[in-house]
Amino acid sequence: MTGGDAAQVSVTALIEARYGLSPRLQHDRLSAFFADRSPLARQLLADHLHAAPESDPVWQRLIEAMLVHETFFYRHNDQLSVVARYVLPALRQRAGGMPLQLWCAGCATGEEAYTLAFLLRDSGCAGKILASDLSAESVAEAVAGKYSWKPGLNSFRALPEAAWRYFEALPGEANRWRVVPEVRAQITFQTHNLMRPLTPALTADLISCRNTLIYFSDESRRHAEATLVAASKPGTVLLLGPAERLRYTNIFVPMTDAHPQILHWPAESGA
Ligand SMILES: C[S@@+](CC[C@H](N)C(=O)[O-])C[C@H]1O[C@@H](n2cnc3c(N)ncnc32)[C@H](O)[C@@H]1O
Repeated sequence: MTGGDAAQVSVTALIEARYGLSPRLQHDRLSAFFADRSPLARQLLADHLHAAPESDPVWQRLIEAMLVHETFFYRHNDQLSVVARYVLPALRQRAGGMPLQLWCAGCATGEEAYTLAFLLRDSGCAGKILASDLSAESVAEAVAGKYSWKPGLNSFRALPEAAWRYFEALPGEANRWRVVPEVRAQITFQTHNLMRPLTPALTADLISCRNTLIYFSDESRRHAEATLVAASKPGTVLLLGPAERLRYTNIFVPMTDAHPQILHWPAESGA
């Protein structure tokens, strides 16, 4: 192993410890970040990262280069249809007229959080959404709420026709659309690392954490799952992505066999 390779290995472990990202999934992107540097420069970079706080600009550049932000409106709509038809009305009834609190954890550029807001409105539920992501760049895009329509894989690829009413065309910007102000006002976006508790603390009626835990290593998932549990209470519903399962907590159980990624903390358990 050269000094440069050892440097990359040590940064891999550091990224896993701080941000949870699985070493296996880091490899190609981290190699690209380290490429074209001499062994000495690699070692200096690693030393800098070990000493610097997360707010350091080099850390910021590195972590942005490591993350995958693939997302689109109404992703996994089969799951969301069940949420709109059964889950939100049940939560609304339990809340007894109080606005629901939703948390979209790992919101990337915002499409999932806005979709949840559309579903709340379509179901006649009052509610607020906190949406968070590790990536400051993605959060800034989410706050802007502006999206481009282009042929192929764009944010609108699964948008139902009726949901276009939640967008307004941006004057002077061809094929650019913005989420309408009243929906944007329903969501607070913030940066947050799922390896740590949410601050300020929040207790959610529904948490959507989809296609995010898959990027975590086994060991880091323990911390991420603890963060989700800390923002929950008996009755909280948790949405995961299709490939995802909880490993370290059995507080949440599937609500139906047909949709094992729609889980809840049974209200009667009081655990
Ligand atoms: C593939 S996107 C999923 C976006 C959206 N939830 C969806 O399903 O369409 C995964 C997101 O997880 C975020 N992420 C990765 N590690 C994270 C961490 N430790 N804390 C918070 N967010 C993280 C990434 O920045 C990325 O935006």
